[in-house]
Amino acid sequence: MAEVVIVENKDAAGALVADEMVRLIESKPDPVLGLATGSTPTPVYQALRERLAGRDVSHVRGFALDEYVGLDPAHPESYRSVITREVVEPLGLDPALIQVPNGAEETIERAGDDYEQAILGAGGVDLQLLGIGTTGHIGFNEPGSSFASTTRVKTLTEQTRRDNARFFASLDEVPRHCITQGLGTILRARHLVLLAFGEGKAQAVAGAVEGPLSSMLPASAIQLHPHVTVVVDEAAASRLELADYYRYTFANKPAWQGI
Ligand code: F6R
Repeated sequence: MAEVVIVENKDAAGALVADEMVRLIESKPDPVLGLATGSTPTPVYQALRERLAGRDVSHVRGFALDEYVGLDPAHPESYRSVITREVVEPLGLDPALIQVPNGAEETIERAGDDYEQAILGAGGVDLQLLGIGTTGHIGFNEPGSSFASTTRVKTLTEQTRRDNARFFASLDEVPRHCITQGLGTILRARHLVLLAFGEGKAQAVAGAVEGPLSSMLPASAIQLHPHVTVVVDEAAASRLELADYYRYTFANKPAWQGI
């Protein structure tokens, strides 16, 4: 089962996950990070900024989970822009080593396969950061997504478009299509770290961690993975049946065991 860590606040989550990422970056000559966008991973990137200041990160490679289709990469809300602004520049990563799926319409038919090849060519993702949508998506794998899916175009649900409208001037501006790593792609990463904060995510988190495996709740696919860490605040944990057991387990965790 996933290890569930219930933390006091976003900063504690950011510190816990950033420490693990630093361990990875320091222990491997060619670490590959799986990068998420949206609001959720911000505390992790913030904590990484402090921890990586002044360190050599020229060997760090990264792959974003998803991108909007048809949105100019120079648009401030394209995930290419977001990754550059919030991850690559502040952490001092080499932009040539950080990839984002190509959402250009002209080449979209082969963009999924190209991305899969690029991930495989890098030796796969070591640690994949994940947020979770209120629809239960990870990446942009909306309900109904196959557990075996690979990087491909998906149509965003209206709920996800409404959820993401806060980043755009109006709902009309939110793209309808995206290109996203599939659930099968995500499951190939060696360690999945899913973060969620706030009451609005509680139901999706409970379904992902404790519900039945179902493509109707795509994040439940994490139950198929041997190494998953779910980091949640009290509000996002509020519907977890085994919350007390998760707290007990973490409090009694052997000192030698990382997340
Ligand atoms: C982002 C992504 C999405 C978000 C999810 C939650 O790259 O793949 O799955 O993680 O929509 O978004 P926030 O964090 O903004 O609540």
